[in-house]
Amino acid sequence: MTQHITQGTGLNLSPKPISLTQLPLPQCNEAGVELWVLRLDQTDARISGNKWFKLKYNLEQALSGGYRSLLSFGGAYSNHIHALAWAAKELDIPCVGVIRGESEYATNPTLSDATEWGMQLRFVNRQQYRRRAEPDFIKELIDQLPGSLKPVYQVPEGGSNALAVKGCMEILSDQTIGPFNPTHVVLPCGTGGTLSGVALSRPDIEVIGIPVLKKAEFLYEDIRKLISGAGETDPQNWQLDLEGHFGGYAKTSPELLQFIEQMDEQYELPLDQVYTGKMMKRLIELVEQGRFTKGSKILAIHTGGLQGMRTVYGPKN
Ligand SMILES: Cc1ncc(COP(=O)(O)O)c(C=O)c1O
Repeated sequence: MTQHITQGTGLNLSPKPISLTQLPLPQCNEAGVELWVLRLDQTDARISGNKWFKLKYNLEQALSGGYRSLLSFGGAYSNHIHALAWAAKELDIPCVGVIRGESEYATNPTLSDATEWGMQLRFVNRQQYRRRAEPDFIKELIDQLPGSLKPVYQVPEGGSNALAVKGCMEILSDQTIGPFNPTHVVLPCGTGGTLSGVALSRPDIEVIGIPVLKKAEFLYEDIRKLISGAGETDPQNWQLDLEGHFGGYAKTSPELLQFIEQMDEQYELPLDQVYTGKMMKRLIELVEQGRFTKGSKILAIHTGGLQGMRTVYGPKN
């Protein structure tokens, strides 16, 4: 798997196997369903989870298109920024991260890594950050860069674009799940790019996205746009469960953190507090509520993001 996904890019991921493990939860026994977890977090600690798949074709495009730098957007704890910074270092291409918030965030573990790996950070306030997809704003940012960094390959926030969707269509493959044939796939959603690719790749499976932000109805439209932007027709095999945000984006609670600790202790399943912890907690609630018929085989995708847990618990040795 690792060999396959890094082929031809010069990126050297740690050669850990990605596992598919069954979670023997009592709630699943009671409901008569199986719950399996695809541990995409195991691709690499630095370019973990969905990140490799979202970046793969973007990086290829940047390299083959003769671009001299990368530019992208993210919050101060962004997994995308973290992964992109490391990929850029490995590929030896300069990279600029436009970060929402104040420069005091620069010393947090995520941005410290990014800086150490050579990413240049530009902090913008919330008002400016809202303009992150506007061509005029992007042009202003690019105009401020030295000529030696141009042309600039621009990756949108969260890395979600048509090439990311194409990459995410490779998440469920023989290399990752082999002959396993789930009836349902469940995954956390931020921008919906990962869900778009997964849903497109397997129209025969019901895909359930769990947005980690409040009032995420807009994602229905965003996902349809991502799918059509990738030149595909909506397979209509996906839906969103809007109740799994647990207070909103990046909001945590003692209950959520306790759940995360319990999953790690009892099932050796490390989760993060922004994406995968919320997805698993909501998924178990759905199992308890009888959302899945007896005999269902549910595949939860662990989309990574564990680097973000350093902010909660400090670095792991
Ligand atoms: C760990 C993790 N899981 C899930 C997601 C959500 O992915 P998407 O934005 O493609 O919905 C993200 C953000 O990219 C993430 O960092």
